[in-house]
Amino acid sequence: MANQNMENLVSLCKRRGFVFQSSEIYGGINGFWDYGPLGIELRRNIRESWWNRMVDSRDDIVGQDASIVCAPQVWQASGHIDHFSDPMVDCKQCKRRFRADHIEDKRKCAECGGELTDAKQFNLMFKTFVGASEDSTSVAYLRPETCQPIFANFKNIQTVSRLKVPFGIAQTGKAFRNEITPRNFIFRSREFEQMEMEFFIHPSENKKWFEYWVNDRLNWFVDLGINKEKLRIRPHEKDELAHYANGCSDVEYQFYFGWQELEGIADRSNYDLSQHIKHSGKDLSYFDEATKEKFVPAVIETSVGLDRTFLVLLSDAYEEEKIVEEGKEESRIVLRLSPKVAPITAAVFPLSKKLSEPAEKLEKDLRKHFRTEIDVSGSIGKRYRRYDEIGTPFAITYDFDSEQDQCVTVRSRDSMKQERIAISQLRTYLETQVG
Ligand code: GAP
Repeated sequence: MANQNMENLVSLCKRRGFVFQSSEIYGGINGFWDYGPLGIELRRNIRESWWNRMVDSRDDIVGQDASIVCAPQVWQASGHIDHFSDPMVDCKQCKRRFRADHIEDKRKCAECGGELTDAKQFNLMFKTFVGASEDSTSVAYLRPETCQPIFANFKNIQTVSRLKVPFGIAQTGKAFRNEITPRNFIFRSREFEQMEMEFFIHPSENKKWFEYWVNDRLNWFVDLGINKEKLRIRPHEKDELAHYANGCSDVEYQFYFGWQELEGIADRSNYDLSQHIKHSGKDLSYFDEATKEKFVPAVIETSVGLDRTFLVLLSDAYEEEKIVEEGKEESRIVLRLSPKVAPITAAVFPLSKKLSEPAEKLEKDLRKHFRTEIDVSGSIGKRYRRYDEIGTPFAITYDFDSEQDQCVTVRSRDSMKQERIAISQLRTYLETQVG
């Protein structure tokens, strides 16, 4: 049975150390989450998969890592100080706050029936102060998106990398939004991580590159093993476009709470560079040596949330099912995560504690190439269940025959089939399976 609600998933995430509520011992803080030992491995694998596809495997995209706090003029130029807001209403009775565009009845509170105030715009940027004084001259913002410093650094990076248009700059990192109603676990939070890439092009090539990136980004989710049937591309209506966008399409996933955005691919025209030229007075145009044309590049942006990718991988992978294994009828929770992203690739089980030493040696050898763990406690069936639940694709049992035949039993999480594999072949076997 596929996951029908978030409760089971949230419970698994806490029980097995994927995600905890932030500051839980103090009752938590709404919209903030902590990632535990398995969670950080899954995040690392997602980030690496993205970086590998967007930067390492290409010769036309380079990376940067900009500071979280930048000069406030960046956000003035980008339009975030004036336009990055959501309409908000307050309940006069219970004092709850709602996003006006997320509620059906704009006059009555859905929680207590109280009267709602008129909608007012609420800026989503977190404010802070830089330096010792706390006045209007020291106000700064936690970045609400990672991409603006890419635009601010356009000239620096183009100069040092000597890349010619079309080329891209990629960045991963934290972003902060004071969301009015954080919801659906880590789907909408106040601190999250983005993976963004700005692809600088000649303005006449915007259609071609927009289509290219929409296809490529959809395929990344498919390559991560997410069910194709539950993914779709949704072009934005004119009235939903962000203040900077000429056009935008979202990659969406069908969660149990409806079709929701995972990633936005936007044609930002040359809005951002033009704004930074205007506000900084610096020349951020590009000179094409071949055509002798000087122009301000347009941009196709790909912007995906790491936390949303995390949530979609877990939601899509989660199953509860009845199985028969080794002649026993059981029920299991299984995360059918792709071996490319599973936090642990293989678990090694000595059949008996007496075999711990050679099993530990085997696990240490595999650890040089894969993420592995050794588990010596409980029946083999119990150990299978423990690792099925965290998405470990392979379980390797070291038994009494292993000493003699130098083979182990490899059991696949999904098919539950067992194969006898020579220890000397194990690394190649796992590498082939992980891909
Ligand atoms: N630079 C463009 C930009 O930031 P966005 O549509 O506002 O565009 C891009 O955000 C992606 O960032 C979203 O598709 C989503 O995956 C992620 N994201 C945005 N707000 C988020 C939030 N409050 N919590 C978690 N992820 C969020």
